[in-house]
Amino acid sequence: MPKIKILPHEELCPNGAEIEATVGKSVCENLLDNEIDLEHACELSCACTTCHVIFKEGFDSLNESTDDEEDLLDKAWGLEPKSRLSCQTIVDENDLTIEIPKYTINMVSEIHPKKESKATQMEKKLSKKDFSLSNSAVNHISNLLEKNKSSGVRVSVKSSGCSGYAYDLSFVQKAEQDDYKASVEDINLYISEESLIFLKGTEIDYVTKGLNSELIFNNPNISAKCGCGESFSIDQNLFQKA
Ligand code: FES
Repeated sequence: MPKIKILPHEELCPNGAEIEATVGKSVCENLLDNEIDLEHACELSCACTTCHVIFKEGFDSLNESTDDEEDLLDKAWGLEPKSRLSCQTIVDENDLTIEIPKYTINMVSEIHPKKESKATQMEKKLSKKDFSLSNSAVNHISNLLEKNKSSGVRVSVKSSGCSGYAYDLSFVQKAEQDDYKASVEDINLYISEESLIFLKGTEIDYVTKGLNSELIFNNPNISAKCGCGESFSIDQNLFQKA
């Protein structure tokens, strides 16, 4: 029976593990069968990237990846040359060693509710260095808050579009449990821990060009934007550092 060695992962497998794998099943299924609760938000249908793993040994023995898998992998956190979506890799007679990346891009983890992190036990404050608003953005967002009868704005990054990620601004009455928070004039600003990794150092500005005005994200972590301006991709080094 082939073995899968899993390198230590802070939450899922703190001491590492070695499991006896079933041939013909995917790496992801084998992990789940052995109570290693790897995220699999699309239920193994090659439609998310949450089951991303990096093969440290055995990569060359794996079945070939499909175009769909390759396209999705481009959006995965901490992509490496030997990255695969574990739900798409089928175990054969060869032993494998895998690393589970520290993060996934799954921003809405309904299937696996997030465990409360240590950081949630203390107030998490956003500094100006983390995230800021220009004066014109403050004025504009204040007006929007009034119109929406809301007391706060939640800024998120979601997996979306042709370049991988998109910003989302929602008007809310209160923070989510693990949000980072700041008060800027009369605006309560909330950002989740996952989104802050993408947004660190961002300033939102409100600019007018000709007849149009819009909120602009000046985000130092972006590596490219798509032509339509709707989505962007992130400098992968960010995830290596995280
Ligand atoms: S679980 Fe979604 S791609 Fe593998």
